[in-house]
Amino acid sequence: MIINVNYKKIINNKSISNYALFLNDNYNVKELKSYFSSIEINSIKDLIKNSNLKKNIINFNLSPKKNIILINIKKNIDTYEIENLGADFYEFIKNLSLKSLFLNSLTLNKGNEEFINYFLHGLKLRSYEFNIYKSSKTQKKLNLTVFVKNFEKIKKNLIKFNAIEIGTNFARNLVSEPPNILYPKEYVNRLIKLRKLGIKVTVYNESKLKKMGMNSLLGVGRGSSKESFLVTLEWNGDKSKNKKPPISFVGKGVCFDTGGISLKPAKFMEEMKYDMAGSAVVAGLIQSLAIRKAKINAIGVVGLVENMPGGNAQRPGDIVKAYNGKTIEVLNTDAEGRLVLADALSFTEKKFKPKFIIDLATLTGAIIVSLGEEFAGLFSNNDDLSKKLFDSGLKVNEKVWRLPLHKNYDKLMNSTIADIQNINYSGGAGSITAAQFLQRFIEKTPWAHLDIAGMAFSKKAANLNPGGATGFGVRLLNQLIEDYYE
Ligand code: BES
Ligand code: ZN
Ligand code: ZN
Repeated sequence: MIINVNYKKIINNKSISNYALFLNDNYNVKELKSYFSSIEINSIKDLIKNSNLKKNIINFNLSPKKNIILINIKKNIDTYEIENLGADFYEFIKNLSLKSLFLNSLTLNKGNEEFINYFLHGLKLRSYEFNIYKSSKTQKKLNLTVFVKNFEKIKKNLIKFNAIEIGTNFARNLVSEPPNILYPKEYVNRLIKLRKLGIKVTVYNESKLKKMGMNSLLGVGRGSSKESFLVTLEWNGDKSKNKKPPISFVGKGVCFDTGGISLKPAKFMEEMKYDMAGSAVVAGLIQSLAIRKAKINAIGVVGLVENMPGGNAQRPGDIVKAYNGKTIEVLNTDAEGRLVLADALSFTEKKFKPKFIIDLATLTGAIIVSLGEEFAGLFSNNDDLSKKLFDSGLKVNEKVWRLPLHKNYDKLMNSTIADIQNINYSGGAGSITAAQFLQRFIEKTPWAHLDIAGMAFSKKAANLNPGGATGFGVRLLNQLIEDYYE
């Protein structure tokens, strides 16, 4: 359902047929007195009594022409709970098939404007749909008019929340696209469109990448008929004279991961269209920074490839020389994300000399075994960056959990005939050894790796996600930047 939100400062109670109001502390009707007659208040009290008060949202007809929806707010509700309530409200009104609805925010105790910002943010994030491939489009539309006291206060945060919604949905759209449509070249075309927001987009094609020595990334794309790319996105929002080093984000963009010659089994292979989610989040993040004109310099780097078997494909046992000069023995062509990131990481460090690098990747199935769909795996060489990511994650409920890096895990990645091998056959710890592999391509920069394999896509709806691509990471990283780097 498409929701069109507008804001009004004056209410004409009589003309409203679908009317939603907030109540504080267990359906207390006290605040309703300015908006309803005492007769109406009495019937509302009766109707509340006959409702299921375990639910936070109830609705009934006050008269044949007036439909009332009451939203109960518990004490000490935090911002994420407000967003969730907005998401629940969306699910509630979706089933009512309304064309227009009025939402009165003036019955809220305090923090009126902020509450409404979070509430509508949750509602909008939950209302995302990906239906461009349905031939019959019966999409419902709802006009939602919100009564507010101080629109200026709402507007201030609205720009930020809109930017995050657009960035999240951009990432969700990219992840949802089928792999026959969103192959690397088409992905590049969509990133180029970000130029109109003032983002500098630089595209490196195969011939350039070859000259630069990015053989680790190129090796992954060799089996595919589609060209591989590396794209950088630069947002220069810090106009101050003494330039600080930029912050940087690197994303795995494997548009489809068959496993290559180390072919994956057929069951659920279709899910591997979401193996580019890390890169989509990086793109969505940079887009949101540009839309909200964040006063910061941020770099996004994405490696876009397709991992296919074929006559020209990379073989298990091949040795490739990476951008930083290290040789990699490719023991398993399905451990391809790290091969793409290896070149993208060392390129980012060398070219941009960033303050830190955060990479995002659907890197290992093992992280789903350890953390499920609740936390992303966090691996880092820096305690301060880890703590900041952890705290930002709790705030927006895009949570990360740190796992260890250690020289004994690192040793497991030594190859007998090259500098490093891309998988370890013994020692377990699949997500950690993948992170150890990545760390070999970072020299000295503070770095954090987020393994989002369990977070990027969800078959079922939950909280702010309607099911499908989640956009996990866009909100987390916006929060991190807002709290510590702007
Ligand atoms: N893209 C996969 C990881 C993945 C698995 C993401 C399930 C989302 C859901 C990655 O490229 C991969 O295949 N990893 C292998 C590594 C192994 C060969 C060491 C894995 O996790 O099995
Ligand atoms: Zn793989
Ligand atoms: Zn993969």
